[in-house]
Amino acid sequence: MVMARHWYASFDPLLDPAQADAMVELCARFGSYKMYSEEPTFAGIGEGLPARWDAARNFVRTGGRLGRSEPLPVLAARTNYFRETYAYGNEVRISGIEPFLRHQGFVAAARRLYDRPVIVPAIVYANLLVPGQELAVHTDVPEFRGVNRTRHPQWLLVAMRHSGLFEQWRIPIATAVSWFHDCAGGEFAFYPDGADAAPHAHHVRSNTAVLLDTDTVFHGVDRVAETAAPVDRLRPGMRLRSAGDDRWRVEGDGAPVAEYRWEELRFSVSWKAYCFADEAERRTWSAHADDLSVEFAVDRLVDDLRARGTLTGARPGDAALVDLIIDEYIRFPRAVPADSRA
Ligand SMILES: [Fe+2]
Repeated sequence: MVMARHWYASFDPLLDPAQADAMVELCARFGSYKMYSEEPTFAGIGEGLPARWDAARNFVRTGGRLGRSEPLPVLAARTNYFRETYAYGNEVRISGIEPFLRHQGFVAAARRLYDRPVIVPAIVYANLLVPGQELAVHTDVPEFRGVNRTRHPQWLLVAMRHSGLFEQWRIPIATAVSWFHDCAGGEFAFYPDGADAAPHAHHVRSNTAVLLDTDTVFHGVDRVAETAAPVDRLRPGMRLRSAGDDRWRVEGDGAPVAEYRWEELRFSVSWKAYCFADEAERRTWSAHADDLSVEFAVDRLVDDLRARGTLTGARPGDAALVDLIIDEYIRFPRAVPADSRA
């Protein structure tokens, strides 16, 4: 139990020691991880924009949580970390993930987070960051009945959540983030007291986890080791592969670009579950009995922008409208330059 504006749970230890060791072995056995920028983009409003245009735009504008100033390609490479999915719903994509996927402590904490008893695992995925990388401050992609990340722009879903206009269609998601080695740097920086309050920079320790509402609470990952090279050689489409013996390689077109030791990487595994008030709500969701349409959502946001006085005159073109929506609804924490902090 933690006293904060947004409740979160801590787990220490998370698993039996042998199970925790098995997560590290599982990470290497999975073998190959693609870059996050390979996430799909969608037709319609904002077509062609990166999936997380909201977070990328804020990151480049501000230089991240600590307000650093760097060339755009370097900033882009810093936050283009590596990701793969270990389980999707109850579908196990690599053996050995089951104790984590079905962790009863996560289920109990998820029930408590929203006071919603019906917990349905949605996904387990791994993030791997190499030295010099960080994860831009963001909130996660929420889920609404009829509008979700598999079919619609992720930045739009995030803005919908922050607008508060679509809560009757939202399925609250509980997210646990866990770690299975100690890591130098790469703190999990999150804002449980809101975007205007100071963040907590949670130090990463082996076999621990936190569970929170990451769709509401801003969070990111501080830089893993303070290094410019070779992160400046990373490009979209490269992969991070286990090379055995605790060595890992970034490869582009089959050619090695950089090599790391396991202990230099930052490895986290995330667990997400839908939290339903009751079985009837779950059925409404799975039967698509009360679905929102994306057109309705955008029109409602436009109406609200007019009501707020943010938009006057004709509806702007999509490119301008996207940025207007993001700027109006997603109020990121302010960057605080590292050298100005006490
Ligand atoms: Fe996140």
